[in-house]
Amino acid sequence: MSDQEGLMEKLVSLCKRRGFVYQGSEIYGGLAGTWDYGPMGVELKNNIKNIWWKMFVQGRDDMYGVDAAILMHPKVWEASGHVSGFSDPLVECAKCKKRFRADHLENKEKCPECAGKLGEARQFNMMFKTNIGAMEDDSSVSYLRPETAGGIFVNFKNVVDSFHPKLPFGIGQIGKAFRNEIAPRDFIFRVRELEQMEVEYFVRPSEWEGKFEEWRNGVHAFNEAVGIPKSAVHELEVGDGDRAHYSKRTIDFEFDFPFGRKELYGLAYRTDFDLSAHMKGSGKDISYFDEETKERLTPHVIEPSFGVDRTFLAVLASAYAEDLQNGEVRTYLKFKPSVAPVKAAVFPLLKNKPELVNKAREIYAELKKDIPQIMWDDNGNVGKRYRRQDEIGTPFCITVDFDTLGETPEMRDTVTVRDRDSGEQERVAITDLSSYLQTRIKV
Ligand code: GAP
Repeated sequence: MSDQEGLMEKLVSLCKRRGFVYQGSEIYGGLAGTWDYGPMGVELKNNIKNIWWKMFVQGRDDMYGVDAAILMHPKVWEASGHVSGFSDPLVECAKCKKRFRADHLENKEKCPECAGKLGEARQFNMMFKTNIGAMEDDSSVSYLRPETAGGIFVNFKNVVDSFHPKLPFGIGQIGKAFRNEIAPRDFIFRVRELEQMEVEYFVRPSEWEGKFEEWRNGVHAFNEAVGIPKSAVHELEVGDGDRAHYSKRTIDFEFDFPFGRKELYGLAYRTDFDLSAHMKGSGKDISYFDEETKERLTPHVIEPSFGVDRTFLAVLASAYAEDLQNGEVRTYLKFKPSVAPVKAAVFPLLKNKPELVNKAREIYAELKKDIPQIMWDDNGNVGKRYRRQDEIGTPFCITVDFDTLGETPEMRDTVTVRDRDSGEQERVAITDLSSYLQTRIKV
């Protein structure tokens, strides 16, 4: 096994052991392509989404947020081209009947599992179909959205009518999307139920190139904010034959995942494809009237599209570290404090000393008011607690000891704060603890 394969195995095992990610429907044998985020995972995921939302929606005057329905009118996906074109080439082995994505196979003739003969490739539409209401016939067919973008385009006119934004402006959304992937794989990298963070940024046709560059920088700024190193991200200019049907230019941002260099995000110039298609499909005029120039136009769109699950995996892989402490291998996640699921853990030095426990509980309760992502831990000795917190990437561990209670008088009402990465310890006054932590967990 290569080091990188080994890393993937370690990540998957740590995720299960420490409550980040579990196999979907695990006790029933699992459901392929679905994963459940556990108590640590949901915090990490929410931190990632909050950083994105703050950076690209709340932090900007030219951005509006929406949260549209996952189920949409089927005509949305006819107009957008997904009903006819959102498909991958599927091949089936004549012998073992396994199915593969033809474009992922090196040998298109031979089954990679049993060496049997592969059949002809056919296009397989990846949208999940469902029926709306009590009738299960063609008239009730609907789809789970395959991208969050659709909910933005259909609300374009609503947002314009409510807020009268001037071009350029954008609409952002975070939410679930569903794709019936032929071969879900690589843990949470390729899943059937995923989450996206997408911006549709509406521009005048003449300004698309400049705005495309701005969003290109935005992608790198976001990576930096969540702790994905620039050296592990590579831009790929997607060629003519390989772009999605709506795109005139696409850059894929690829990341060095443990299983190879693969797409992390996409940045696309979708022209006026979607707004024009929905105008045609719905019969409604959703064009934009520029009140200054008195011109009516269909804006063009720049779309940075971020997968939450892939960001999660890239953040996790970037943070994974091992070192030697006291002759033992220590595993730790060197998350940026801003994404860490737990910001600090509070321990009484000893569990069976009520005076220590009471003081530690008091400090914990006070801190939790200011910093909700804080954990109580009194299991095992302090060394074991450090290891446990290191494995979930807690940047600070606070120990309440006898000096806190005044055994050494000049240390009364101070605690030990231990730094996850360096292991160094500092004595901090209880009165300063909240602001000490708050300044350090913002980054
Ligand atoms: N609206 C544009 C769009 O959806 P995409 O390249 O198909 O474009 C955008 O998807 C991003 O969504 C990808 O870069 C990736 O981060 C994420 N993504 C797509 N399919 C995924 C899957 N099956 N599992 C996990 N993430 C996925």
